[in-house]
Amino acid sequence: MAAREGLALVDRDHSGVDRAFRADVLTGLRQSQKAIPARWFYDDIGSELFEDITRLEEYYPTRAETEILEARGPEFAEAIGPGRAVVEFGSGSSVKTPLLLSAIQPAAYVPLDIAGDFLREAAAALARQFPGLPVYSVEADFMRHVELPDAVSGQAKLGFFPGSTIGNMVPRTAVDLLRSMRGTLQADHGVQPMLLIGMDLVKDPAVLVAAYDDAKGVTAAFNRNLAERINRELDGTIPVDALRHVARWNDDFARIEMHLEATRAIQFSVSGERFEMAEGETIHTENSHKFTRRSANLLLHAAGWTVRRRWTDAAERFSVILAEATEPRNAP
Ligand code: AVI
Repeated sequence: MAAREGLALVDRDHSGVDRAFRADVLTGLRQSQKAIPARWFYDDIGSELFEDITRLEEYYPTRAETEILEARGPEFAEAIGPGRAVVEFGSGSSVKTPLLLSAIQPAAYVPLDIAGDFLREAAAALARQFPGLPVYSVEADFMRHVELPDAVSGQAKLGFFPGSTIGNMVPRTAVDLLRSMRGTLQADHGVQPMLLIGMDLVKDPAVLVAAYDDAKGVTAAFNRNLAERINRELDGTIPVDALRHVARWNDDFARIEMHLEATRAIQFSVSGERFEMAEGETIHTENSHKFTRRSANLLLHAAGWTVRRRWTDAAERFSVILAEATEPRNAP
C-alpha cells in the first residue's frame, strides 16, 4: 500500500513540514495523557508495515472480512440489488473491492481518497479488472462532506467502508463520520443510500491483545515508527529505544489501546519544543474499538443508519453490516 497521505491535499510550510502533523503532535504531547491521532501512522514506512500486519498469523481481521466477502456474494447481490454506484471511503484495497464489485452488478465505482497518487493507481487497476464499469475517482478527505461527480447524481448509492477503520475513531467522531457519509451518499430524490461496513467484534481479550502485539514485533515496529516519523519530519530527538510498544484491552470502552511507554525517564524536543516523560508514562497512539451486535446497531443508528443485514465469518470474529439510511424519527 502506498502512503495514505498524498502530496496534493497536504498543507506544508516553507521547509516542507506538514502543518497538521506538527500541530497534532505538539498539541498531543502537551496533554497530561500524551496522545497522537492514529492517522499519522501511515507514512510510506507505516503503510508498508500495516500491509505486513494484515498478513500476520495473529491479525485475523483482514482474513476474516475477506472470508465474508468471498462467501456472501450472492446474499449481497440479493440484499443490495443491481445498479448502485459503489462509493468506497478510502480507495480500493487490492482484494476486497473486486469481491464486492463482482458480486453486485454496480452502475459505477467511485473511490474516495486523500492520497491522489494511490487513488489513481487503485482506480486504474479496478478499471482494468472491470472493463465497462465507469470508475470516477475523487481526491477528497472523506472525514468531511464530499461532492460526488455529476455522472452518478441520479444513481442510488452504496457506501463501502471495509477494514473496521470505523473502530479507530472514538464514538463521537465515528458518529460524525457515519452521518457525514450519509450526507455524501444521499440523493435529492429516489432510493435511500446503503452502507456496507466492516466492524470487528468483541472477543477474548487474549486473542485481541495478540492481534495487536504479535510475536514477530511487526505491530511494535508500526507503533514505534510514529516516534521515528516525528524525529524524521519534525526535527525530533525522541529516544525511540526507550519507548516500549504496549497493546492493552480497555474493557470499559471495549477497545484495544496502543501506547508507547517510556522504559526510563526521558527528555526530548520536537520542532524546538521540550518535552519529558517519567518512567512508565505513555503516549496513547491508537484506539481500535470492537463491537457487539447491539453496539454496532446503536452506533449506526445514532448516525441515521438502520441495520438491514449482518454477516460474520465462520468463527464469528468479524462482521460485515449492511445498513440503510432512514428518515429521522422523533418518537417515542
Ligand atoms: C486500520 N485499522 C483498522 C487497524 C486496526 O486493526 O485497528 C490498524 C492497526 N493497528 C494495529 N494493528 C492494526
